[in-house]
Amino acid sequence: MNVLSVTSEVFPLIKTGGLADVTGALPKVLLARGYRTRTLVPGYSPVLAQLDQPKTIHFFPDLFGAPASLLEVTAAGLDLYVLDAPSLYDRPGGPYAGEDGIDHPDNWKRFAVLSYVASAIAGGLLPDWRPDLVHTHDWQTALTTVYMRYSDNARHIPSVLTIHNLAFQGQYSADHLDLIGLPPEAFSIDCLEYYGDISYLKGGIRTASAVTTVSPTYAREIVSPELGMGMQGALLSRLDAFSGIVNGIDMEVWDPSNDPFLPANYDVRQIRRRGVNREILMQAFHLDSRPGPVFAAVTRLTWQKGGDMLADVAEEIASLGGKLIVLGKGSKDIETQLLMAAGRHPGRIGVRIGYDEHTAHLIHGGADIIIQPSRFEPCGLTQLYALRYGAVPVVSRTGGLSETIIDANDAAMSARVATGFQFHPATSDNLRLAIHRAFHAYRDPKKWARLQNQGMKANFSWERSAEQYADLYGRLIQSNRASGRVA
Ligand code: ADP
Ligand code: GLC
Repeated sequence: MNVLSVTSEVFPLIKTGGLADVTGALPKVLLARGYRTRTLVPGYSPVLAQLDQPKTIHFFPDLFGAPASLLEVTAAGLDLYVLDAPSLYDRPGGPYAGEDGIDHPDNWKRFAVLSYVASAIAGGLLPDWRPDLVHTHDWQTALTTVYMRYSDNARHIPSVLTIHNLAFQGQYSADHLDLIGLPPEAFSIDCLEYYGDISYLKGGIRTASAVTTVSPTYAREIVSPELGMGMQGALLSRLDAFSGIVNGIDMEVWDPSNDPFLPANYDVRQIRRRGVNREILMQAFHLDSRPGPVFAAVTRLTWQKGGDMLADVAEEIASLGGKLIVLGKGSKDIETQLLMAAGRHPGRIGVRIGYDEHTAHLIHGGADIIIQPSRFEPCGLTQLYALRYGAVPVVSRTGGLSETIIDANDAAMSARVATGFQFHPATSDNLRLAIHRAFHAYRDPKKWARLQNQGMKANFSWERSAEQYADLYGRLIQSNRASGRVA
């Protein structure tokens, strides 16, 4: 079976967060289950720079006002279609924002065009390849199934939309409809219309054959007004086709026994060797070598991730005799607060503003505790990497965090299933309490080693979740066949 996955980022070619990890890992695990994925991504300049002899398989002389080419290539084990449209994707900055951190003003067009091309591929644009199913991710590619609805050739192809983060919805004024080449009837309550505007994500929710999100808990949370971010009505209207499938982790990219990102003298296989890793990590962040637990966070520094709470508790960690390491990038306010805390506590708090895959691995292998104080968290992957590398997670009890970490309460400790510390609701005071609990447990080396071991044994490989995606794909393709809507 052929699957077309459409995404705005894919690891290792281009990544701003967990979306890339997921779209990079899924094709590999689904191949073993009979699904061969081709992934359509924008030809951002850093992506094009990594391609080895791509083949042009289609030329668009005028794709929404400018020429573009569709390239085919295999890179990092992924079969890719890359949309090389320089007027849209060849510019400084990241996939979504310029170097100044401000969103590219034409994102409405950049991602509409990507989705249009995905729909065209589904409709038979390429003579020798057509998908049996289309899988879209987040608002950036959600428009694919809207285009498919209005295409005689693509309408019948089954599709899945996965919501990785409901906070981003692609909402624009209704006059964009004409500019992105959709008919006026798409501006309706059962398609793109959203409180007088259009919403790409809502369009996807209304038109995909099935909608998933990245954990069952987040699926339950977002059908309520509290975390539904205004989309709960649209989601409730698709309840029969909506489910949560928790993310796994790529066991090859995050493999403590064979991690190319780690220095040779790092040893993550044995927790008794972690002291050495901790030393190396602390040196990298210019921290002093006094004893005490090393807390760390690898995160986007945003409100969602509770970056402000990290800044609130930084000094307390230092005054209790711990260390804090932060690797992250995001809101300037949060970055400044953290840098100021580091300035006040040299040797105790180390902050690196930026995005660096290498340092992220170093932190998971050397820190004692990974903090993730998210206000909402569809799944979260850093806590899973932490578990596998023997760092103990301190997390807020929300979304995927609540179902992947087992709180170290007395019952869970004596049942030998605890893997971390949870707090709720996500406030700085509650985070402070959880940090105190972690300090307390850390002082009991036997208890601490048990927590680490239990975490390292937890299995968050893709196997189980891949099975659920494969089941879903299979059911959709099957029911499509049964209804006789085969191309
Ligand atoms: P989200 O996608 O919401 O940011 P996830 O926990 O699902 O959250 O995924 C985050 C991914 O991005 C992880 O792979 C994490 O290691 C990585 N990451 C986040 N911030 C950084 C950073 N500053 N440097 C390197 N990797 C980072
Ligand atoms: C989003 C979510 C995160 C999730 C990731 C991958 O970025 O914020 O919780 O793990 O997507 O699905």
